[in-house]
Amino acid sequence: MISEPVNTGAGEGNGSPLKKLNVGIAGLGAGAVQVIRAMEAAPYLDIVAAADTRPQALSAFRERYEGRTYDNVEDLAKDPDVDVVWVSTPNIYHCENTVALANNGKHVVVEKPMAVTIEEAERMVEAAERNGVNLLCGHTASLMAGFRAMRRVITSGRLGKVTAINCWSYVDFMFRPRMPHELDMEIGGALPYNNGPHQFDVVRMMGGGMVRSVRGSVSRWMDARTSPGYYVAYLEFEDDTPATIVKNGYGYFMTTELVPWAHDVPERQRNRDLRKALRNGIPYDEASGKEAQRFGGSDTNTLLGPRENVLRSGFQPDAGLVIVSCEAGDIRQSANGLTIYDDDGQHEIPVEGVHDERMAELDEMYQAITEGRPVHHDGRWGMATLECVLAMMESGRERREITLTHQCPAWE
Ligand SMILES: NC(=O)c1ccc[n+]([C@@H]2O[C@H](COP(=O)([O-])OP(=O)(O)OC[C@H]3O[C@@H](n4cnc5c(N)ncnc54)[C@H](O)[C@@H]3O)[C@@H](O)[C@H]2O)c1
Repeated sequence: MISEPVNTGAGEGNGSPLKKLNVGIAGLGAGAVQVIRAMEAAPYLDIVAAADTRPQALSAFRERYEGRTYDNVEDLAKDPDVDVVWVSTPNIYHCENTVALANNGKHVVVEKPMAVTIEEAERMVEAAERNGVNLLCGHTASLMAGFRAMRRVITSGRLGKVTAINCWSYVDFMFRPRMPHELDMEIGGALPYNNGPHQFDVVRMMGGGMVRSVRGSVSRWMDARTSPGYYVAYLEFEDDTPATIVKNGYGYFMTTELVPWAHDVPERQRNRDLRKALRNGIPYDEASGKEAQRFGGSDTNTLLGPRENVLRSGFQPDAGLVIVSCEAGDIRQSANGLTIYDDDGQHEIPVEGVHDERMAELDEMYQAITEGRPVHHDGRWGMATLECVLAMMESGRERREITLTHQCPAWE
């Protein structure tokens, strides 16, 4: 059994009174609902404040938490009774929100992608470091207990050196109800920006972080969706280890089909209907579908709920199938942890802990603030992952391999 240091009930069990943190949320959208569900289950957090431009979200927030609300993030940043803020606004605002919060002494967890450009990422890192606050580039699949355990098998050396990493994911990203900001490449929307961080983060973590170069391309296969629904990348690490990343967001074949323990999502039929409508030019009310999933929307009470809802299957479709090959064997995720293939055969390695990257990011930030533990997914790590995503797009545009300059090593 691999015992994960994360997801095991941070803040519990040392006998001393629990130190609680006051949390603010910037952007009460569909993404925020997922982390709020985990926050409600975390015994060490109090949800106290939020900022959003939608009045209905703010009034729903006041009703549920009796919390303070603001119609802009700058005012939330000035709230003296907030310790840490989760930034879940549209991607184009991540930089300005993070800088404002850091300048007011708040610790920040920012959704993927951390920013739209490297210059923005640099400003965020600089603001966090100058103000002495923690910046966590959150919600990527690399936070999941299974992937962390995979990294620990690698660093243990039992299978020798990593020799290849392959990460392939087929999902229906393109046909979930989307707002324009989610699909506009100019403002950091669309599949490469939104899903790239999951896969590049995982692959970088397995390979040790230091990617030397990326060759890739992105492509669009459907006129009705004007941004790319497919990307592919070939990476080489500084030690020559090769890796491939594939993402198909058009939702015909789905990777979950090959993973017996993964749940199919209940929305799948709705997403097929949306694809068919778009293909045939039939009007489809995406805005209402999206609004239902946001905080204060009609699905809020279903989306939030008991702790069991936080516990997942341990398979993150946005990362997809991840197979790490080493000199003396292969590793993949399994229903209860990992399967390792070595010269003696096939071995199941159970992984203790909750399989949910949202709980892991709460734990990581809590332990950083209260115990001074390092944030692994910090601003420099997030910037290195963003650099890979941007390089894949640039490589496709320019039809050449891109050499990277902002990489940093993974932790042991
Ligand atoms: N939708 C998901 O399932 C999901 C999952 C994980 C991560 N995310 C991430 O969450 C972030 C938001 O995406 P989303 O899907 O929740 O979009 P969304 O449109 O549902 O949410 C954005 C929220 O921010 C608010 N907002 C917009 N401009 C604002 C501003 N200037 N100040 C304050 N609030 C503002 C909106 O009213 C909305 O409530 C993105 O970074 C995305 O990558 C989304």
